[in-house]
Amino acid sequence: MINRYTVIGQPVAHSLSPAIHHIFGELTQRKIAYTRTEASTESFEQQVLEWREQGGKGCNVTTPFKDQAAQLCDRLHESAQLAQAVNTIHMHRDGALVGHITDGLGLLSDLQKNKQTPIAGKQILLVGAGGAARATLAPLLKAKPARLVVVNRTIGKAQALVTTFESVGKLEAASFDDLPNAGNFDVVINGTSMGFDGDKPPLPTGLFADNALAYDMMYNANGTPFLEWAAQNGATRTSDGFGMLVEQAADSFAIWEGVRPKTRMLYPRTSEILASV
Ligand code: ATR
Repeated sequence: MINRYTVIGQPVAHSLSPAIHHIFGELTQRKIAYTRTEASTESFEQQVLEWREQGGKGCNVTTPFKDQAAQLCDRLHESAQLAQAVNTIHMHRDGALVGHITDGLGLLSDLQKNKQTPIAGKQILLVGAGGAARATLAPLLKAKPARLVVVNRTIGKAQALVTTFESVGKLEAASFDDLPNAGNFDVVINGTSMGFDGDKPPLPTGLFADNALAYDMMYNANGTPFLEWAAQNGATRTSDGFGMLVEQAADSFAIWEGVRPKTRMLYPRTSEILASV
């Protein structure tokens, strides 16, 4: 029997998830099918329910439906409860829709395992307080940074995240004009969707500590404006979010199929994945 999965989003045509999951299927010798499903805000819930009725075993949820997915699920795994966002729905044997979020774990795996960048004891700056940032906060805090600052254009949203996540670990909110600790950040993570217009980035210069990593959750084969800016402004190392995409997918696959693929076997096939869209 073939287990069927899909990624639901808008737009979803350029999602790399089908190619990634097909390789995971090969690596683990599981027979899976994985498609793309375009939805709208109005149709999203119905499409998830239809996917279950048609025998789908699970789905990934991507922008802009992660919050809506958390509302729809019958049960939320601990990972999704604080984030109130879901990127992985498991159609449970008992018929329930069980929601998980694997984005934060994926980020941590990419940072710590693939990029050899430990979080424990380090100074971390998370840029952004939207859905993408929210999804990663609990795993980041559980990794025990010495300091975690959330900086956001709208300071109230960063402050709200402090209130939600302070039970997991200590974190601080800041505005772009008032960044504490500048010059000491070991890892600066961009979780915003903003563009940086050349010589006028909203972040101050001199943010980075020696050997710091600038990490963009966004993935783009041609680089990202944040990483360009970071490289010109003192970041020793830069990374886009491709590894996060792969690692969060591996955690989704493990939830559905009970086995986590060895992602290091996939990275040599990156060009094949990129050519799939
Ligand atoms: P996502 O689900 O992708 O995180 P979101 O929830 O709309 O999307 O959040 C977008 C994030 O990018 C927010 O942190 C937003 O800042 P505000 O909370 O102040 O809106 C940030 N963002 C988007 N455009 C930006 C810009 N031009 N300058 C600074 N921050 C920006």
